[in-house]
Amino acid sequence: MLVPSKELTTRARAEGFAVGAFNAVNMESAQAIFAAAEETRSPFIIQITQTTLNYTEPEELFALIKARGEKTNVPYAIHLDHGRSFDICMRFLRLGVTSLMIDGSLQADGKTPRTYEENVDVTRRVVEAAHAVGVTVEAEIGRLGQVAGEAEGADLLTDPKQAARFVADTGVDMLAVAIGTTHGLYKGTPYIAHDRLAEIGKAVPIPLVMHGGTGVPDADVRKAIPLGIAKINIDTQIRVAFYGAVIEQVHAVEKEFAKVDAEGGVRKYDIRKILAPARDAMREAIIDRMKVFGSPGKA
Ligand code: G3H
Ligand code: ZN
Repeated sequence: MLVPSKELTTRARAEGFAVGAFNAVNMESAQAIFAAAEETRSPFIIQITQTTLNYTEPEELFALIKARGEKTNVPYAIHLDHGRSFDICMRFLRLGVTSLMIDGSLQADGKTPRTYEENVDVTRRVVEAAHAVGVTVEAEIGRLGQVAGEAEGADLLTDPKQAARFVADTGVDMLAVAIGTTHGLYKGTPYIAHDRLAEIGKAVPIPLVMHGGTGVPDADVRKAIPLGIAKINIDTQIRVAFYGAVIEQVHAVEKEFAKVDAEGGVRKYDIRKILAPARDAMREAIIDRMKVFGSPGKA
């Protein structure tokens, strides 16, 4: 069942678990996400980013996700992750996503910070359009980035008062917060600003979102959920699982080819021999996160 993500995350925050939001870039990663959710009976969010535009037409990826989703009886949402502009959000809205993120903390180039007023302006316009068709909106306040401690991260971490004002100013449904997490792998063990998160959670009653979920220690994830984190984004961990399996398969194929060549045989090529184990590895990595998020059995 395709639903707005607000339905999933509002319940998650109330019941003390988190909905995993996993990035799909092709058929295999999308299939792995659905399979993991069905196996564990976990509500979930499947995400597409706008950088997918550099790889494939989002319409094509969306169509295959939609087709796979028609066969599932687990509630899920299709989400645009890190939409950088109003126009991009509208393109995905027209596609039929049930949830989208306007990342108004940075300008459309993905680097230059937007002011608070600029963030409010673009977020409000997206909220107005999305809410008119029942679509959930996630926005971001603060700047994602690894920090050494709460004091050191003071400039980057989300300010609880500003977060509450931002939610009131924009009418957004879910809020991504800066609490020391970052995209990609961490240098050493990340510091997660739980004290700051607790303050944000008290000031902001809507579901909070943890970006950069890969590499956050399980204990830190479990501690963050009762403080308000109800959606956790995972991308890199899926890529790591994919790479690991593909590298292993390529080595195995090299060995097999060397043997066939030595025996004077004929090589056989099958793309699926490499992609099927990679799909399995991604499914396992996703299940592993779902268990930590407490979502199994909630569908
Ligand atoms: O928006 C996507 C994420 O925040 C994923 O972060 O690649 O570190 O898992 P990650
Ligand atoms: Zn993110």
